[in-house]
Amino acid sequence: MEQRVPSKGENFDQAESPTFMSALFEPITLRGVTIKNRIAVSPMSQYRAKDGHANAWHLVHLGRFALGGAGLTFVEATAVEARGRRTPGDLGLWSDDHIEPLRPITAFLEAEGSVPGIQLGHAGRKASERRPWHGETPVTDEDRDLRGEAPWPAIAPSPLPYDEGWPDPAEMTEDDIDGVIAAFGDAARRAADAGFRVLDVYAGHGFLIHQFLSPLANARTDRWGGDGAGRRRLAIEVARSIRRQWPEDLPLLFRVSATDWIEGGIEPEDTVETARALAAEGVDMIDCTTGGIGGRKRPARMAISQGFQIPFAGQIRADAGIATMGVGFLWDAEACNAAIADGQVDMVALARELLDDPNWSLHAAAQLGDDEGHALWPPESGWWLMKRDRLVKKLGLRG
Ligand SMILES: Cc1cc2nc3c(=O)[nH]c(=O)nc-3n(C[C@H](O)[C@H](O)[C@H](O)COP(=O)(O)O)c2cc1C
Repeated sequence: MEQRVPSKGENFDQAESPTFMSALFEPITLRGVTIKNRIAVSPMSQYRAKDGHANAWHLVHLGRFALGGAGLTFVEATAVEARGRRTPGDLGLWSDDHIEPLRPITAFLEAEGSVPGIQLGHAGRKASERRPWHGETPVTDEDRDLRGEAPWPAIAPSPLPYDEGWPDPAEMTEDDIDGVIAAFGDAARRAADAGFRVLDVYAGHGFLIHQFLSPLANARTDRWGGDGAGRRRLAIEVARSIRRQWPEDLPLLFRVSATDWIEGGIEPEDTVETARALAAEGVDMIDCTTGGIGGRKRPARMAISQGFQIPFAGQIRADAGIATMGVGFLWDAEACNAAIADGQVDMVALARELLDDPNWSLHAAAQLGDDEGHALWPPESGWWLMKRDRLVKKLGLRG
């Protein structure tokens, strides 16, 4: 069916909802949630929270992407325990007090047609880190003097530091592990209460769950370490704990690093196994990234190009039989569309390209022939842009 563009004089917002031709703009339904297109705003930490509480910054930052047409908008990595924050400015959901300030965000995203999602995480040995523009090094007493932000002790599967110059984290006790598992479940309950409808668990980029998954960070010899099944146990218990408190009709995703890119670390085949195990626990989609376990230096094996992580997502989708989301160095609408049309991924997530152009989704729709006349734009801007285009064309301006 041809997409209908409002004719002159017709109310802009009376246009019928169009039928899309590209894979990128085909709606997708995960459990009880329908997302209007395949574009997700990848979680992007803003380091702007105070004691884990969201504020107007987060609303404005995320609201731009909803107005810009993204189907699913993720709130950044949100700590399930205070000590699981990566930086002092991370968001948190470790107490009921954190719920209320998130509500304006979910309400706005819903109202503007973007499904509100949130990523839950625990930084483990990566906790107590300075913001990127303060050096991405451990917080010290100096930060207390400069910014009133004191360092705090980190926990991890094993007392192995994240990188050179980092303190040894405390090896987690059984009680610590039980606490973290429960904290993920409780935070999921709070996320649902705050109005989120998609959950993404941060199990990649060297965060706590990834630290358990990777032999490079997990040297435990008890049931939480050792072979693949042992190292996977925390991820599975977290999925179970969340599924007990996260509504049945809402989708659950895990962001995993498909490969550590380092000898002796996680390989894609291990991640296929992890994805299978998670699928059996009610996880609906694997959000597929890579790397992050071995410190800040880029591993020698890691060759970056546009969409370089998509093939890993494709392998997981084919071999584990679970839906995938592809992310990383994506900016070309045609390439994103092809990754979906070719069956490598079910959705794409973008981060930096959206910072550069929050309206990327709407521009992609026009490029792929799915939006003529700015009909997908909020009428408050789309109506004017449509009128200007007509006039510019009539007057023969702009080439
Ligand atoms: C400002 C910023 C903050 C980020 N914070 C998070 C985060 O909280 N959680 C996460 O999983 N990834 C985070 N990332 C990584 C992105 O989600 C994404 O995976 C990565 O930037 C690659 O995608 P891109 O090439 O489209 O930027 C962040 C990236 C940026 C640029």
